[in-house]
Amino acid sequence: MCGIVGFTGRTPALPFLVDGLRRMEYRGYDSAGVALVGGDPARIEVRRAVGKVDALAEALRADPPDESAACGIGHTRWATHGAPCVRNAHPHLSPDGRVAVVHNGIIDNFLDLRERLRAKGHEFRSDTDSEVVAHLVQECRGGSLIESVARALALVRGTYGIAVVSADEPGRIVVARRGSPVVVGTADGAAFVASDPAALAGRADRVAFLDDGDLALLEPGSFEVRSLAGEPVVREAAPLDFDPAAVEKGGYEHFMLKEIFEQPEALENCLRGRLLPDEGTAKLSGLRLGPREIAALSNVVLTACGTSYYAGLHGAYAFEQFAGIPARIEQAAEFRYRNPIVAPDTALVSLSQSGETADTLAAVREAKRKGALVLSVCNAVGSTIAREAGRGVYLHAGPEIGVASTKAFLCQVAALEMMALLFGRTRRLSGAEGAAIVRALASLPDLVRAVLAKNDAIARIAERHAGARDAFYIGRGYQYPAALEGALKLKEISYLHAEGYHAAELKHGPIALLDEKVPVVALAPRGPDRDKTLGNIQECRARNAPVVAIVTEGDADARAFTEDLVEVPPCPDFVAAVPVVVAEQLFAYHVARLRGEPIDKPRNLAKSVTVE
Ligand code: AGP
Ligand code: GLU
Repeated sequence: MCGIVGFTGRTPALPFLVDGLRRMEYRGYDSAGVALVGGDPARIEVRRAVGKVDALAEALRADPPDESAACGIGHTRWATHGAPCVRNAHPHLSPDGRVAVVHNGIIDNFLDLRERLRAKGHEFRSDTDSEVVAHLVQECRGGSLIESVARALALVRGTYGIAVVSADEPGRIVVARRGSPVVVGTADGAAFVASDPAALAGRADRVAFLDDGDLALLEPGSFEVRSLAGEPVVREAAPLDFDPAAVEKGGYEHFMLKEIFEQPEALENCLRGRLLPDEGTAKLSGLRLGPREIAALSNVVLTACGTSYYAGLHGAYAFEQFAGIPARIEQAAEFRYRNPIVAPDTALVSLSQSGETADTLAAVREAKRKGALVLSVCNAVGSTIAREAGRGVYLHAGPEIGVASTKAFLCQVAALEMMALLFGRTRRLSGAEGAAIVRALASLPDLVRAVLAKNDAIARIAERHAGARDAFYIGRGYQYPAALEGALKLKEISYLHAEGYHAAELKHGPIALLDEKVPVVALAPRGPDRDKTLGNIQECRARNAPVVAIVTEGDADARAFTEDLVEVPPCPDFVAAVPVVVAEQLFAYHVARLRGEPIDKPRNLAKSVTVE
């Protein structure tokens, strides 16, 4: 997803803008640009480029703006309206060139606004929805810039995170948010705005996250927040808990590999202080629920997108197994529109690494309208979903930069199992049974380390399959969500078409696709489903499909069917998906590396999908 940045202070703005855009590159984008306000009399200079921020840097070198300008805004675009090209890149200017705007989101009524503005003589230079905001600000001019912006936004329907500058008010930036994240910050004599705290790490001393409907005026060293109606709003600023080093690769070739290898520590951070072995339960203070409130909940509905959805499917199994209550997972995009059945005794658990996914946010809002008890499982502290849910579990996995989610998935599984354990202990789950679950969860970091140690062996297996065009992943029980997740990892970073399937379902059609060119990754660790999945492996081999089997260490039976074995350490069935998925992550990573793909920023993808 795109990003906005802005700086106003007593030093040149451009270095912060370019670096801030680079720090948000992982979010995915197709073009970039900056607008600087400087000179006397003040004027706005815009530079834009298609492609990466490097292309923008080249455009800046080729045609240097006033580099002393101490106020400016920048943007990385993920096109929704209008092709990725220079004239559609942000910032967009008002007709008189006195106002510049950068925008993250979608203006739903831009066609109507554009026609109304055209009727007043406005001519548009781009195909984007965003450009209408710059024209509206000029059209609504009167009083101060923030008042003009407020009047303009009163006409807008849709989502936005925007920053606006004007040559008439040099040194000021007006920002606003509805549906797209915006964080503002200050340091000595400077003020900052960005879509993502990563851009402010190591720069802003204190930051505040805006809420929907907030408008803020940034001046060197300060910001003030108000509503669209002009009422003062208090947004507490706090030190930013974001390690700049986390945005660096730490010697790994890709962020994704770094984050795969960070998983033991990420799990340790996620579990820390939350497992109570003596009581056979978990402590999740962020839920702000006592045992009586938890016991009164009759069912659980989880909702998420993508990898988080697969973690939610795993979690639904755990809630039913540990707590004995009905639990289901729903695609967030379905949940938000299909008039779902939830009630005040439903626990609606939203899962989102970024906490900004538009469909998941909308599902949370719909669940709140229906009176469900909304909880969030989220990695990004202070994110919109986390704040709107108001209670939940933070993953503490650390910033996840690679677009393909890895450590967040494992921590989501761990968090959901802790929740299921807690729910179970208000029901028929005994202290001894709970203690066994606690021990299994506490073993997760070492289970992951054992698989990381097989990285080279997995890389060699990947070499044998990197040339495939299609692949299947199959599993049963807890290995079924793992199969879906493994397939997503492979396809989203290697562009190799892969499908996750329930192992038993293969024979109901998809097996027709199997031949010697279609590898099948079969998940068969020891557990109630292992024998049946071994049978499915034989079905695949009978069609000459190559098989990569992920099995428990020492399980020699599978050797009869394939030499491509990945052995994971023994563990209880309800946590076996964790080491299995780590093996799938490494397999996908090496296939993508061997195919020469970019890995951290796959084509067409964004780290946080803040548009629907
Ligand atoms: C997973 O590797 C993908 N990046 C994608 O499916 C992602 O899980 C999905 O967009 C949901 O993102 P979220 O967890 O931030 O809501
Ligand atoms: N809808 C705007 C456009 O297509 C902004 C998209 C984004 O969020 O980057 O330019």
